[in-house]
Amino acid sequence: DLPLTFARRLIDWQRQSGRSGLPWQGTRDPYRVWLSEVMLQQTQVSTVLSYYPRFLARFPDVFALAEAQADDVMALWSGLGYYSRARNLHRCAQVVVAQHGGLFPDSAQGLEALPGIGASTAAAIAAFCHGERISIVDGNVRRVLTRLMAMDADLALASAQHELWQRAQALLPETPSTEDMTAYTQGLMDLGATVCLRSRPLCGRCPVQDLCVAHAQGVPQNYPVKTRL
Ligand code: ADE
Repeated sequence: DLPLTFARRLIDWQRQSGRSGLPWQGTRDPYRVWLSEVMLQQTQVSTVLSYYPRFLARFPDVFALAEAQADDVMALWSGLGYYSRARNLHRCAQVVVAQHGGLFPDSAQGLEALPGIGASTAAAIAAFCHGERISIVDGNVRRVLTRLMAMDADLALASAQHELWQRAQALLPETPSTEDMTAYTQGLMDLGATVCLRSRPLCGRCPVQDLCVAHAQGVPQNYPVKTRL
């Protein structure tokens, strides 16, 4: 049974060999997970490591961030780039306080309605904080899953993205605990970031090498297929 085997192996691998001890791991506080995911969207882990604790020290919770002056938020973001992220972050905090009493919605669907929270960030927060059975599909995860399943549909097409998301959902553990969903979600990201590399994948270190159709074909680097993006 591919889904069961894949999920079990990925979870075990993450616990053994995945990244651990990062400051945003080991919390189920949606505010902290949200902040880390937004920072990590377009910025390397090594850079986020210095910005994240500084930002949290100044704005320890969603109320503090909502009440902040825009200039102060920008000053703490300075150097991270993609400044629309910081403006959305501030606006999102204000919406969470004004419309949700300071509590982030607890489903991916509710989270996605907030400013600056896209499908992947919403899924990451819901999976890490609440164990929701939902798959993130960011760049790293797209690479892992299209190789695993030798999916050659063009991901420039919305239809192909939808198919990939459906197939990602089918691979999730069947009745995961929150701990399982956390390890699974982090495992997908970690496998993409450290093993299933874009041009020189380290297949010898992959926990699911024997399940991977692209590896069997001998051409993992041919996936994902996208004509633009
Ligand atoms: N990139 C996006 N989310 C991440 C996470 N939780 N850990 C490491 N890198 C990430």
